[in-house]
Amino acid sequence: MRINKYLAECGVASRRNCEKPILEGRVKVNGKVVKNLATDVSEDDQVSLDDKKVTPIAKHIYLMMNKPKGYVTTTSDEKGRKTVMDLLSKKFASKRLFPVGRLDYDTEGLLLLTTDGDLANRISHPRNEIHKTYVAKIENEVQESELNKLRDGVVLDGVRTAHSRIKVLGFDGKVTRVEVVISEGRNRQVRRMFESINREVIFLKRTGIGELKLGGMSRGEVRELKAEEVEYLKRI
Ligand code: URA
Repeated sequence: MRINKYLAECGVASRRNCEKPILEGRVKVNGKVVKNLATDVSEDDQVSLDDKKVTPIAKHIYLMMNKPKGYVTTTSDEKGRKTVMDLLSKKFASKRLFPVGRLDYDTEGLLLLTTDGDLANRISHPRNEIHKTYVAKIENEVQESELNKLRDGVVLDGVRTAHSRIKVLGFDGKVTRVEVVISEGRNRQVRRMFESINREVIFLKRTGIGELKLGGMSRGEVRELKAEEVEYLKRI
């Protein structure tokens, strides 16, 4: 990376304004003054300004992925299965990114990945009750009376689930599509809620986390969050 960009990432000044101290001979790389603006430095170089070491301020990365089914939500899998990290481009592959929360192997949809541990903790913390939206498909026609049981809460592992919002999106004669909004993040929660009423979820996709929406992302696509999306998460 060019020396002026490096200094800017250290918070010295804007990239432009970092040229002046270089030309004035106030910047050293590995103990030697550098005045050439074309000098490149890497993470392994020791860079100083006025003989004080400068280091880049960690700039966190925030990504949204449309996880396809058939990938494990982890950074490495002892069984050798494909992980969501395999879907990251080279640009992000070496960064210390990790997934926020979990989607099952067979579940697809919105998954966040970040280098920001504090933010990840806040998003995942049950106290913050961020609602998560799913689209689920269930074989045959599901009755409103059955869904009412789920809306009111069912007992999983001895603990009742919180109220959830469930809306029927359609029935095509074979399969019922429903939208499920829950504010907890218990293990396989949506699938187990339906199991508790003897129904099997045959397709599950997360379409939203709080106000963040998956939109029209294709399966396996990854994009950086927009500034306003990061701001939203930081307000949580
Ligand atoms: N509920 C599930 O059953 N599975 C998921 O992956 C997420 C929520």
